[in-house]
Amino acid sequence: MANTPGIKHINSALARQTLLDHSTTDPVAGVRPIQLLPWLKVIKIGGRIMDRGKDAILPLVDELRKLLPEYRMLILTGAGIRARHVFAVGLDLGLPVGSLAPLAASEAGQNGHILAELLAQDFVAYVDKPTITTQLGIHLANSRVGAVIGSAYPPYHHHEFPNQRIPMHRSDTGAFLLADAVGASSLVIVEDVDGVYDVDPNGPEGKSAKLISEASYTELAKQKGTLPFDRMLLEVMANARHISSVQVVNGLIPGRITAAMRGQHVGTVIHTGAPVK
Ligand SMILES: Nc1ncnc2c1ncn2[C@@H]1O[C@H](COP(=O)(O)OP(=O)(O)OP(=O)(O)O)[C@@H](O)[C@H]1O
Ligand SMILES: [Mg+2]
Repeated sequence: MANTPGIKHINSALARQTLLDHSTTDPVAGVRPIQLLPWLKVIKIGGRIMDRGKDAILPLVDELRKLLPEYRMLILTGAGIRARHVFAVGLDLGLPVGSLAPLAASEAGQNGHILAELLAQDFVAYVDKPTITTQLGIHLANSRVGAVIGSAYPPYHHHEFPNQRIPMHRSDTGAFLLADAVGASSLVIVEDVDGVYDVDPNGPEGKSAKLISEASYTELAKQKGTLPFDRMLLEVMANARHISSVQVVNGLIPGRITAAMRGQHVGTVIHTGAPVK
């Protein structure tokens, strides 16, 4: 870049370009980012599992405990029924979406704290989002293997998009964004059903519901009706950089999370837009 007297130049590939012009940004920004934490396994535990209390939680804790000596994990919790209640109360009061998002996030955090207390004797602790994003390596390095627990809710808070009154970025989107951003090796989403079905297995047409064993995010986007995760997740999957597939498994059946961690095909495998490594 030629120097013009009197102008302080910064030598960088993007210094003189608009960031809106893809032909100039793509050669620099289009490459795959590095994996910050390639050894990390992320598990998102559905809030509805936590809502079921000890019959569901204690076997899950046992299963997670057995995985601690084998993997370095980030276990993220969803919000469950208490967030639905807080949405109902907040909407009734006319609260804006940016006020509802942190309320639901705090419910997801509560579930994380509960799980962390139950795994405290195994040196597992709840860690807040700013620490997760900057110091996760330090927290897991001390034990080489083990886990850290956090809230799956993304911290959009008052930056939540005002498209809807209910926050569109919820715990599944939050878990995926974090896993992909740090270049984790996998993401398992734990539900209270076997995986993704063609229709809600607990809905009016539940008797005829069929489990989808494998699908791409584009195929699921075409599926009308409900899904067991926030729809925004499919949009985020389209632009994924590292997580090329996500496994949705039933956390009420002991062994399913372990099978998914070992790479066995249980539940539903969803292929994202990220290239397979
Ligand atoms: N296509 C579908 N396939 C499977 N389950 C579905 C589908 N549509 C709706 N569901 C329902 O979604 C329920 C799970 O709800 P949800 O995903 O909100 O819970 P969660 O993931 O535990 O909660 P959170 O998102 O707060 O962590 C299942 O019990 C099932 O009844
Ligand atoms: Mg879910």
